[in-house]
Formats: sequence, structure tokens, C-alpha cells
Amino acid sequence: MERLVAPSMLSADFVNLACDIEMVNKSQADWFHLDIMDGVFVPNISFGFPVVERIKALATKPLDVHLMIVDPDRYLERFREAGANWLTVHYEACTHLNRTLSRIRELGMKAGVSVNPHTPIELLTDIVEYADLVLIMSVNPGFGGQKFIPNSINRIERLRKMIDIKGLPTRIEVDGGVGPSNAKQVYEAGANVLVAGNAIFKADNPLTAIEMIKKA
Ligand code: DX5
Ligand code: ZN
Repeated sequence: MERLVAPSMLSADFVNLACDIEMVNKSQADWFHLDIMDGVFVPNISFGFPVVERIKALATKPLDVHLMIVDPDRYLERFREAGANWLTVHYEACTHLNRTLSRIRELGMKAGVSVNPHTPIELLTDIVEYADLVLIMSVNPGFGGQKFIPNSINRIERLRKMIDIKGLPTRIEVDGGVGPSNAKQVYEAGANVLVAGNAIFKADNPLTAIEMIKKA
């Protein structure tokens, strides 16, 4: 199974963003992971359209945009215009998830749905075929640098089974507390895409950290 790495720019140095974008461009990473937080769905505010647009201007790899915002339907089009290739909304933030995911696809992006650590994976059974990606949160969303919640492994395994039984191409992405020390276990549980923030940008050598995750 493919093994992708998506560095989370939330942990980058915002004063030297161009340097960090260049590093990701020349690394073995596959996507740029961008965390959008509204201070309502999660207890933190990150960055918005101007930053996404500037990252898009320099990035040579797809933008994987993770919306931690209430009522994301209001902004789907704007994120497409800002350059999102993958757009992920939260299960817990959508009243009409089927409509939201279908709309993301209609707009020409890949559609993702994310679940918080308390949301049973089984609730995705009737929506997973409408998603190109399921993003399992392995921390409570809102901040980088938190500890991986061990039960996430079991959740990845259950989702992998569900997706395989249905014969779907839906990818599984895992976000929060992932790094070289647990990447192998997370991939082996059935994940395809690992997000990592602190483990990459706070490492002495970010390029090596990316390689270690990718080849775990
Ligand atoms: C958390 C964000 C993550 C975060 C991951 O709410 O969705 O993408 O940046 O950071 P680390 O890898 O440091 O846990
Ligand atoms: Zn994220």
C-alpha cells in the first residue's frame, strides 16, 4: 500500500514560511497539510485565505486542507479558489455531510471527512463511499505537539476493514502526534497518509524526519 507523508505547516516558522515551503518541496513529502481553525470548532485560531494563497504560489505539491471550522459549506468555493486540492471537513461540523462532500467533488477537489477521537468509526458506514479520504484525528484537534492517543490504532484498523470490505479506494489519513517513532505502527494498522507537524519542523533535520516517516 502507498505511504504518503503530509507535513503540517501549522508547526512551520511563519516568519520564514518560504524556507519551510522550499524544504517540503525538495523533500520526499507528498502533500502540504494546512490546518484551518476558527476558534469555535476548536479552541485555537490558525490562519486563513491569504496564507493558503501564498503557500499555493510556492508549493510544488498538492494542498491538503483540513477545515476545523463550523459550517464549512460557507467556504468550500473560496478554498478551491485559494488552491486546495484536497478539502476535508469534520463529521461533527456538518449537518448534511453527504451534500457537503458531493459539493466538494463537484467543485473539482478531492473530498475528505475527519472524525474526532470520540466519534465511532462505524458512523461513517453510509458516507465513506462519498469520501476520497477519511482523516482520523489521533489527538483532540486544535494544537500541534500533542500526544498520540493509543486507541487510534484500533480505530484505523476498524476503518481499514470497512473500506476493504466495501472495496473502496478511499484513503486513510492520520493526524496528531505522529512521527518516526510510531509511523510504522500507524501505516501497518492501515493508514495511507501520515500528517506530522512537530516531528518534522522541530526536528534537527526535517528532511531526514520526513524520510524516516515515509520509510518507517
Ligand atoms: C491538530 C492539527 C494537526 C497538527 C499536527 O489539530 O490538525 O494537523 O498540526 O501536529 P503534530 O504532528 O505536532 O501533532
Ligand atoms: Zn490537521
